Amino acid sequence: MRVTVIGAGYVGTVTGACMAYFGHAVTVVDTDVAKVAKLSKGETPIYEPYLPELLRDANARGGIDFRCDLSDAIAESDVIFIAVGTPPQASGAGGGHSTGPMPRRRKIRLRIVAWRIR
Ligand SMILES: NC(=O)c1ccc[n+]([C@@H]2O[C@H](COP(=O)([O-])OP(=O)(O)OC[C@H]3O[C@@H](n4cnc5c(N)ncnc54)[C@H](O)[C@@H]3O)[C@@H](O)[C@H]2O)c1
Repeated sequence: MRVTVIGAGYVGTVTGACMAYFGHAVTVVDTDVAKVAKLSKGETPIYEPYLPELLRDANARGGIDFRCDLSDAIAESDVIFIAVGTPPQASGAGGGHSTGPMPRRRKIRLRIVAWRIR
């Protein structure tokens, strides 16, 4: 399958690497240009044990690429994972609240053009 993961953070990069390791063709999209540039060079901006090795093997299997442009990745994919950050709640508790200015700034505009089950 062709898989798109939106967000190249801890969750998105690891999810993308695992999916590619299992043979899926993966594109990971992030708005952070510097992060995408690093990951494209095989460098990991986050620390996760064995992630560099996993990315190297993933690339040799299903293939994984990193980009900033969402539109092509969406059009080409069978499955889309959204793994962007969520802000903490006002109480300071962990992420999950979906209202307020942060989520609006981070809005992802997805246009569903087809419903595919293969
Ligand atoms: N890290 C964990 O252990 C963990 C555990 C459970 C749930 N989660 C949840 O998973 C989600 C991701 O967590 P994380 O730790 O990977 O966060 P993160 O901050 O490491 O990564 C989020 C990434 O999303 C990117 N991003 C933000 N808005 C974007 C947009 N509009 N388009 C493309 N990219 C965008 C950011 O640049 C960043 O690289 C959060 O909702 C978090 O609450 C995380």
